[in-house]
Amino acid sequence: MTVQIDHALEEIRRFRPSPEFAAQAVADEHLYEDAAADRLGFWADQARELLTWSTPFTQTLDWSNPPFAKWFHDGELNVAYNCLDRHVEAGLGDRVALHFEGEPGDSRSITYAELTAEVKRAANALLTLGVQSGDRVAIYLPMIPEAVIAMLACARIGAVHSVVFGGFSSKSLQSRIDDAQAEVVITADGGYRKGKAFPLKPTVDEAIEAAETTVRSVLVVNRTGDDVAWVDGRDVSWSEQLAAADAEHEAQGFNAEHPLFILYTSGTTGNPKGILHTSGGYLTQTAFTHKNVFDLHPERDVYWCTADVGWITGHSYVVYGPLANGATQVLYEGTPDTPHPGRWWEIIEKYRVSILYTAPTAIRSFMKQGRDVVRDYNVRSLRLLGSVGEPINPEAWIWYRHVIGGGSIPVVDTWWQTETGAIMISALPGITDLKPGSAQVPVPGISIDIVDDEGTPIEGEGGGLLTITEPWPSMLRGIWGDPERFKETYWEKFGDKYFAGDGARRDEDGDIWLLGRVDDVMNVSGHRLSTAEIESSLVAHPWTAEAAVVGASDEATGQAVVAFVILKASQADQVTDIGAASDELRKHVAQQIGAIARPRQVFIVNELPKTRSGKIMRRLLRDLAEGREIGDTTTLADTSIMQVISEQVK
Ligand code: WT7
Repeated sequence: MTVQIDHALEEIRRFRPSPEFAAQAVADEHLYEDAAADRLGFWADQARELLTWSTPFTQTLDWSNPPFAKWFHDGELNVAYNCLDRHVEAGLGDRVALHFEGEPGDSRSITYAELTAEVKRAANALLTLGVQSGDRVAIYLPMIPEAVIAMLACARIGAVHSVVFGGFSSKSLQSRIDDAQAEVVITADGGYRKGKAFPLKPTVDEAIEAAETTVRSVLVVNRTGDDVAWVDGRDVSWSEQLAAADAEHEAQGFNAEHPLFILYTSGTTGNPKGILHTSGGYLTQTAFTHKNVFDLHPERDVYWCTADVGWITGHSYVVYGPLANGATQVLYEGTPDTPHPGRWWEIIEKYRVSILYTAPTAIRSFMKQGRDVVRDYNVRSLRLLGSVGEPINPEAWIWYRHVIGGGSIPVVDTWWQTETGAIMISALPGITDLKPGSAQVPVPGISIDIVDDEGTPIEGEGGGLLTITEPWPSMLRGIWGDPERFKETYWEKFGDKYFAGDGARRDEDGDIWLLGRVDDVMNVSGHRLSTAEIESSLVAHPWTAEAAVVGASDEATGQAVVAFVILKASQADQVTDIGAASDELRKHVAQQIGAIARPRQVFIVNELPKTRSGKIMRRLLRDLAEGREIGDTTTLADTSIMQVISEQVK
């Protein structure tokens, strides 16, 4: 392994776009020139070209009350109409929108006409349940077409969806229902994962039971056919409700700044933040980036983004961007290795997928399996590969291009966040010379600076903090119910620039390299987790006195959660075996938050390293967890403490 890593560090190859690719590329140099000449004019042009407005806008950006931006705000549009009806009206009703592939092997292809019809019925079903424009609807579903239909049905009637990833616990779901005051939940009996049906409805029942908000209705999709408890008067069958609903629904325009969705993501405190996105600007930038970064030719491409709709990648690059662009895409319910390790390549062969968008953690797990698994399938339909979620190490980049891509097709590494709504930094295929490991350049119309701690831009080569210096169309409009936290988290550090929370470096060519989070946010398999949230979950366990959590680098998942826990002396008789105690605590976190938050390791210790003012020095714990020599301990209250902890961790 070490040898390969050394090799990757020396990776200095650059990959020119092939003349054939460049000749057919959607993006061209003019995008950069136009955006540089007139940034707002450029975005206004994109909004007019890519979207259909029921009332055209006359003003592009209102930034009179920063950091609260309004884009295209005197215009009106219907987001679902833009993703559906207009394609049907343009004669593309027979084009497949979704090739759905269930984990057990069931599949169904849904055309734009069919998807439009389903969304109309679902919209009417929600209206029948009393859902009004501006109401919040929680969606807790597996990766099935109904998830897409439910989101678009909300958008169609101006309701605000809050999708909660199906892997989250009832407690996580409950806190999200309460924070958004969602009165309707859309769920399923269950879904399929790793060859088994997993239940969802019981989790919803539990969450609603514990919630402060009164949930009026629960729409239940029948996916696994398993028996579920039914609350009369509250629970409604999705299929029955849709069958009874009116088939016609005329989409009405909403203001460009009408809220589209809330999506919760981890921050530096214990409570997830409800990131709020609105309509016109969000759809403009997701459509623009989806078309240009993925070189989309909707008439011939089959696109597959492997993200779950529970994450922002699923919102922007499974639902809104691709459907606004009239793309044909694959929607896969399950895990990459079920029922066999070649499942993804089998799907690519079956649907002749031409564009694949996935995460480095998946690529690294395929690398571990070896290239033979891929070789059993014909994946030569692929012509473009994308990466997202965490830095892609050059070694994985090269493997992706060679083994999956056959050695000649572009790989684009895309940097963005839940908050940015859409891709912000990426090469444009056909234009940019590709550089493995670097996200490279801001997309046209986006202004990025790398700054030092005081906010002074670093000119030329050098490292610092990543900031966004101008408002962008798909930017978050705030944190749901907490405008102060919005200002504090992103805008207070540098006043007029958006602080992303990532470290970054610019190289001698001006290309940007992402260096990971600089705050207490971890990135495990491309998913964001907060140290504070996991710590508070650990101390909620009756055995725990104190806990400290760090993200330690991990070959497979990028980072892994490592916890250090001091047990309560009063509970000592409960804990007979340290190994069992640590397992119990790992399980506890998985139950409280969700399986993705389960610590890789929980070390039971007697002390935590603290400064004289009592602040835990997580940096030293990270050194320990990563097996490095312990850094500077001079600011510790007791400088010998790390020695003691190291002994206990052995
Ligand atoms: C954080 C955002 C954007 C969708 C998935 C994650 C990290 C994301 C990259 C990349 C290096 C990346 C950053 C960012 N990140 N993409 N291409 N290279 N780092 O969305 O959960 O909001 O997390 O993911 O640290 O801040 P998210």
